[in-house]
Amino acid sequence: MNITIVKGDSKLNQSKCLVIPINQKGIPKGVPNLGSSITKSINSYINTCSSYHDIGAIHLISNSNQSILLVGTGASKAIGRAELKVIISKLDAHISNLNHKTVTNLILYTKLKGLKSDTAIQSLAEAISYSAYRFEHLKTKVKAVSKITKHEIVVPPQFDINIAREGLKLGKAISNGVSFARDLANLPANICTPAYLADKAKVIARSNDKFSIKILEAKDMEKLKMGGILSVTKGSDLPPKFIILNYKGDKKDAAPIIFCGKGITFDTGGISLKPPSSMDEMKFDMCGAASVLGLARSIAELNPSLNFMVIVPTCENMPSGKATRPGDIITTYSGQTVEVLNTDAEGRMILCDALSYSLQFKPKLIIDVATLTGACVVALGTIHSGLFSNNSKLVSQLKESADKSDDTVWHMPIDDAYGDGMKSNFADFANIGSSRNAGASIAAQFLSRFIDETPWAHLDIAGTAHHTGAQKFATGRPVSLLVEFLIDAKR
Ligand code: BES
Ligand code: MN
Ligand code: ZN
Repeated sequence: MNITIVKGDSKLNQSKCLVIPINQKGIPKGVPNLGSSITKSINSYINTCSSYHDIGAIHLISNSNQSILLVGTGASKAIGRAELKVIISKLDAHISNLNHKTVTNLILYTKLKGLKSDTAIQSLAEAISYSAYRFEHLKTKVKAVSKITKHEIVVPPQFDINIAREGLKLGKAISNGVSFARDLANLPANICTPAYLADKAKVIARSNDKFSIKILEAKDMEKLKMGGILSVTKGSDLPPKFIILNYKGDKKDAAPIIFCGKGITFDTGGISLKPPSSMDEMKFDMCGAASVLGLARSIAELNPSLNFMVIVPTCENMPSGKATRPGDIITTYSGQTVEVLNTDAEGRMILCDALSYSLQFKPKLIIDVATLTGACVVALGTIHSGLFSNNSKLVSQLKESADKSDDTVWHMPIDDAYGDGMKSNFADFANIGSSRNAGASIAAQFLSRFIDETPWAHLDIAGTAHHTGAQKFATGRPVSLLVEFLIDAKR
């Protein structure tokens, strides 16, 4: 989808497909007069339909050379980011059935709440791109595709056009990162393998010369004694990869921000095998990896002057004669030993190596992103990602970016006491707790044992990274949160 901005004074009567907002009071001020016959049709619609201003309600008025789509913006006077998203997704369903190539959208003539020129355009560009996203290239018979290839955002005269352009640039970069993450996550595990993720990371690295990339192979991991990831990959026939993307836009010695993403391309549970129902959804167990790579994809486009790294441990968790058994004791990269009491608690086993590996770069802070626990889904559902941290300043910064991007988080506890149940008779500790309660906090507590004083946050995205059941589909969360966070961390 090509998204552009056009100035409000441009000739709208030449547009074949116009989107006009409508609220309780009718068409907002500032929208150019569309001619007497259209005005008449609008008035008769308003008079005959009481729900015309319902949010996302759509009414089509066509004449021989133009389609006019009236879009309800709700009863309240102003709309924000969340409302824009709803309106655009309803609009998308409608316009994809029309026979136009370009849509010209005047939705920004509505009163906006909490949005300046740049953030309004950014939010709108993101909403347009998210709604237009499709993943259908693996179907041989695709439903009729939308003919709309261009979406023009009409910028009201009171907007500063240069600031609007900045907003569009950020919105495009974020949505490209989100689509990139969604594409990776929606792919099945027979296509999106650890090697596939490594190849995609190489493509990102080649797109901006501030990037360098290193990929550790199994033999490198053995040399480095990365017992955590090696214990998980043991049952799989596919080679594991440990991806290290390094972006240097700032001074060489400026401390980087590091993002680690869980890259289990398929999680069967291993010998602690999962039940069969919905096991296919465990192809989404690399959504953490997809999101940090999506972040890198966005940043490659924005080209900011900061230092950051993306670290992705990636492998499969499979049962086999070679797989790790419950009770096996593993020496992790940190040197700490772990008794694997449940091979389905594998995410923490690969992440712990990535976290302790990160420390050598003396990072300013570390954020890991993982579909780590079903317990987090029980606690927070699909609304918020779980946020766990050893640093209150980092918590408030992440919350701020989360609210800004409407990619929300909920701060969860990580007290040492949550780790009490991980006692082991034979190793330093076990990889699960003795009780099923508070599973998300136990997992986070486990990870915290591989971090020193470095500010660190863990995002459990098990409930937010993808929809499940009949709606199963990747959301691309939390790419937008991560981009907002990293861009703001620069200032
Ligand atoms: N990948 C799963 C977590 C998960 C569950 C993600 C549901 C998305 C939806 C993770 O590896 C896992 O299996 N966790 C176990 C941990 C348990 C064995 C302590 C879980 O949550 O059941
Ligand atoms: Mn698992
Ligand atoms: Zn998993």
